[in-house]
Amino acid sequence: MQRTMQGRVVLVSGASGGIGTAIAAAFAARGASLMLTGRSQDRLDEVAEELRQRFDVVAETVCADLADPAAPARVIAALRAAYNRLDVLVNNAGIALPGALCRTSVEQWDLQMAVNARAPLLLSSLALELLQQSDDAVIVNIGSVVAHKGYAGQGAYTASKHALLGLTRVLAKELQQLGVRVHLVSPGGVATPMISEMRPDIDASELMQPEDVAEAVIFVALARGNALVDEIELRRRSSEPWK
Ligand SMILES: NC(=O)c1ccc[n+]([C@@H]2O[C@H](COP(=O)([O-])OP(=O)(O)OC[C@H]3O[C@@H](n4cnc5c(N)ncnc54)[C@H](OP(=O)(O)O)[C@@H]3O)[C@@H](O)[C@H]2O)c1
Repeated sequence: MQRTMQGRVVLVSGASGGIGTAIAAAFAARGASLMLTGRSQDRLDEVAEELRQRFDVVAETVCADLADPAAPARVIAALRAAYNRLDVLVNNAGIALPGALCRTSVEQWDLQMAVNARAPLLLSSLALELLQQSDDAVIVNIGSVVAHKGYAGQGAYTASKHALLGLTRVLAKELQQLGVRVHLVSPGGVATPMISEMRPDIDASELMQPEDVAEAVIFVALARGNALVDEIELRRRSSEPWK
């Protein structure tokens, strides 16, 4: 595989598991230097060590709970200390709590909004100065098919992904003139711990793999030429097309 990201720095939130680990591995495979963040320092250490061994890359970690509004500043401070550079920010960390919308507690609502929508905004805002110094700066937000539909039993999660879609649309317009591309990658069911909790009804053999999402992230991050891609929506192959 070509090391097309050699010399570039990528920050991945939620890199301690699931889709985020696959995204980090896909960038490492292309030679990128990494800053990995998540809540579990042990898992971050394991992922970083595995990527160093497999791909001979630099991988740093910073443990942060993105439900805390002060955490994004600590993440960006760690990034500055390690690299003082950023080319790609992947806002992947997310949390999904199942439940009927009208039975959602204030705590559940606030937590999902904080991690799934506020943290991407704060990380993007705080990373902007570094991103503007890159000659090809990209923000990739990991949305969901729930950002486009109403899903019963996933109310607050659905609302938080709608919020992420809205802020992605605005950021893409506001940052275009600053030379920063902003994209949304919106998957359906992917084989991670999150889906087994939210959709135990889906046959596990039909789920996408985290690597499928990671390849879509790589596609938008590496886009060149005059093609503009706003969003990539990925759904299970067994889904009804165009629905
Ligand atoms: N799986 C799916 O079917 C699916 C479908 C559409 C969209 N997505 C989206 O894809 C993204 C990744 O989901 P996943 O399926 O990989 O889920 P996952 O396996 O549950 O992983 C979630 C990641 O987010 C991190 N995270 C959760 N809460 C956090 C917090 N408060 N602060 C910092 N990090 C936090 C976790 O870190 P720790 O483990 O260290 O706490 C973990 O690394 C999410 O945005 C999700 O909404 C998933």
